[in-house]
Amino acid sequence: MASNPKNVGILAMEIYFPPTCIQQETLEAHDGVSTGKYTIGLGQDCMAFCSEVEDVISMSLTAVTSLLEKYGIDPTQIGRLEVGSETVIDKSKSIKTFLMQIFEESGNTDIEGVDSTNACYGGTAALFNCVNWVESSSWDGRYGLVVCTDSAVYAEGPARPTGGAAAIAMLIGTDAPIAFESKFRASHMAHAYDFYKPNLASEYPVVDGKLSQTCYLMALDSCYKRFCHKYEKLEGKQFSIADADYFVFHSPYNKLVQKSFARLVFNDVVRNASSVDEVAKEKLAPFTSLTGDESYQSRDLEKASQQVAKSLYDEKVQPTTLIPKQVGNMYTASLYAAFASLLHNKNSSLADQRVIMFSYGSGLSATMFSFHLREGQHPFSLSNIAKVMNVGEKLKSRHELPPGKFVEIMQLMEHRYGAKDFVTSKDATLLPPGTYYLTECDSKYRRFYAKKTGESTESAPVANGH
Ligand SMILES: CC(C)(COP(=O)(O)OP(=O)(O)OC[C@H]1O[C@@H](n2cnc3c(N)ncnc32)[C@H](O)[C@@H]1OP(=O)(O)O)[C@@H](O)C(=O)NCCC(=O)NCCS
Repeated sequence: MASNPKNVGILAMEIYFPPTCIQQETLEAHDGVSTGKYTIGLGQDCMAFCSEVEDVISMSLTAVTSLLEKYGIDPTQIGRLEVGSETVIDKSKSIKTFLMQIFEESGNTDIEGVDSTNACYGGTAALFNCVNWVESSSWDGRYGLVVCTDSAVYAEGPARPTGGAAAIAMLIGTDAPIAFESKFRASHMAHAYDFYKPNLASEYPVVDGKLSQTCYLMALDSCYKRFCHKYEKLEGKQFSIADADYFVFHSPYNKLVQKSFARLVFNDVVRNASSVDEVAKEKLAPFTSLTGDESYQSRDLEKASQQVAKSLYDEKVQPTTLIPKQVGNMYTASLYAAFASLLHNKNSSLADQRVIMFSYGSGLSATMFSFHLREGQHPFSLSNIAKVMNVGEKLKSRHELPPGKFVEIMQLMEHRYGAKDFVTSKDATLLPPGTYYLTECDSKYRRFYAKKTGESTESAPVANGH
């Protein structure tokens, strides 16, 4: 075991999203809203959703199994497993314990960690727990594993097109190609009722969409200011947007990501950062005297800063937006899916680049942190991670369902939420081989899963620990 772990971070990643999806354009027409509202107004292209045979447990079983298989990791090599999720299937039993089925055969029950929950922030909390463990004196030299898994569904209405679903698994260890710059980390935590799930009988959140947008931007400002301050204290020089190659944001919908980056540009203007050019200064100067509250309400500032930020957005943010635009909000997995998009788009040119990550979970918790990327050694290299995730192929091989079918599935899922004593259709035709799916929930609410094997729909049942 290394006595002083170096370059602790993400060694490998796997992403799974349901192959069932609906085009936002199709949804616009079905919902009778004006053309462009979801595609341009929210900036979304497509939305993935779980059919009745998938849930957050099946998706995470798939992501973890696939990661271990593709990287040839023996299950006994995992010493900590942390899950981030806000999709409640059980108020006591963690999703992590379901994942222990994967380790049964190897006899490895010596795995620390449970679930972390706070809206979309739980995945980041889980990641920090794992990284901190590897950096601590209790680390036993084995790998950590982080899983972010969520199904984002909303009641009919304006928030429904901001749904999505996915699970991401990340292997944590030393000498990582995606290494934490641990000292550069700033948080903002506060009490807010912007998005919450008080009704335990429903999967749908109570959401104040406009408030959640303001809370997000306020938390972003606060984290960025603190981040800059910490950087300047440690490095003895100013930090600005110019000091990072990419910015990755939690993405409830792409429009908010566009607004967020513009907000960082505005922050740099207010701070009089030396990297800001004269045109930007001139265009945004009239807004620098606004109070914080006024600045969040100003449509003129929003427009002007987005305009000023446009070319930098295309360079530093656009490559991170593919999966969130195509899959939708994945809650805890959203930020890491955005990062996966960057690996997919730029894998060969990322070595030695700095990536700033912004994690936000309503309620609210937010952290800005930094990765330093290194090419790494096979199989834990940036190019191999991108190859193994195979995002292009996964997006291409999806099945678009018509709106009628989508609504029907949402209704069935509403009915099934919190229910017992049901058997699913067990129809795995649309799922790729290797995908886990829900077969049954018995009279004691115990859930049973199977794995689709080979190229056929033939499946092998999975033990559920009984
Ligand atoms: C995002 C959300 C508030 C949008 O709700 P809405 O009532 O549809 O909001 P709006 O009517 O303002 O429309 C959204 C945007 O589309 C634009 N728009 C509307 N119709 C349009 C059209 N036909 N063409 C182009 N743009 C259009 C609006 O101008 C607006 O843009 P803006 O944000 O730049 O002002 C809603 O989907 C929601 O609550 N989602 C969940 C929020 C969430 O995820 N919160 C967690 C945050 S972490």
